[in-house]
Amino acid sequence: MATCPHPIPYQGSKRRLAAQVLAFVPNDVDTLWEPCCGSAAVSLAAAREQRARRFVLGDSLAPLCSLWQRILDEPGALADEYQRLWSAQREAPRAWYDEVREAFNADHDPAKLLFLLARCVKSAVRFNAAGAFNQSPDRRRRGTRPERMREHLLGASALLAGRTEVRAGDYAHALDEATAGDLVYLDPPWQGTSGARDRRYHQQHERERFVADLERLLARGVRVVVSYDGRTGDRRYGEPLPERLGLVRRELFAGRSTQATLHGRSSETVESLYLSPSLVGAG
Ligand SMILES: C[S@@+](CC[C@H](N)C(=O)[O-])C[C@H]1O[C@@H](n2cnc3c(N)ncnc32)[C@H](O)[C@@H]1O
Repeated sequence: MATCPHPIPYQGSKRRLAAQVLAFVPNDVDTLWEPCCGSAAVSLAAAREQRARRFVLGDSLAPLCSLWQRILDEPGALADEYQRLWSAQREAPRAWYDEVREAFNADHDPAKLLFLLARCVKSAVRFNAAGAFNQSPDRRRRGTRPERMREHLLGASALLAGRTEVRAGDYAHALDEATAGDLVYLDPPWQGTSGARDRRYHQQHERERFVADLERLLARGVRVVVSYDGRTGDRRYGEPLPERLGLVRRELFAGRSTQATLHGRSSETVESLYLSPSLVGAG
């Protein structure tokens, strides 16, 4: 496959930015930790470019971690199951999507999650208060075709299997074990500043915890790369990380926002990347 395998369609994926992130990752990394991994775009790109000996993928979303484990262990069987789920939507796609979603909420089966992510609006995981996946299907798309999905699953497995560990849970657990020969790539989800007061309060709390965790990690000499705030045109989202961390901030060009283009505004989307100073020479 000419492009890097990327089997899990995922809102917020760093797929398009992975090459720019990788420009700062040296090739002597012992373990690359990606503890908010989602679709693991950066780890996949790093494995392809042989930047690290081992990988640890983590996410607080346990079924997503089960999906990664299945990609590592049985990509062919997973591709078969995806093909069966995808093909069965033919006559009544909405009813079939609802049926798969209900079944996933009962059994948390990784193949069903993969199908739901490939078919749902914006490939965005959404859960209701009871913890059930409740995202709607995208009516305009059928989701990645099975032959293409198989290529991505086998390709990702070939890159990562045998040298990757998957750990479900909070990012902070993984950080305790990272050492000075390692590199931690963090792409946490709390950068937004808008929303209801409760939500802002929660985000502020998560930010303070995150900054304190980063401080501890840096004090142990672990190299870090953090995706955090950004801006589209003049509109900023997220608060920058505090200067006292001593990280170097670079801006990555993330492309043009079609929404802003429609309104005739300056529309380039730029994301901040924060780096341990020792990594900056490499970029
Ligand atoms: C912005 S997405 C990461 C996207 C990823 N870089 C990619 O390329 O797909 C943030 C991820 O962090 C996960 N997450 C949220 N809270 C977390 C926590 N406390 N610990 C670990 N992961 C968390 C979410 O489930 C989500 O998959």
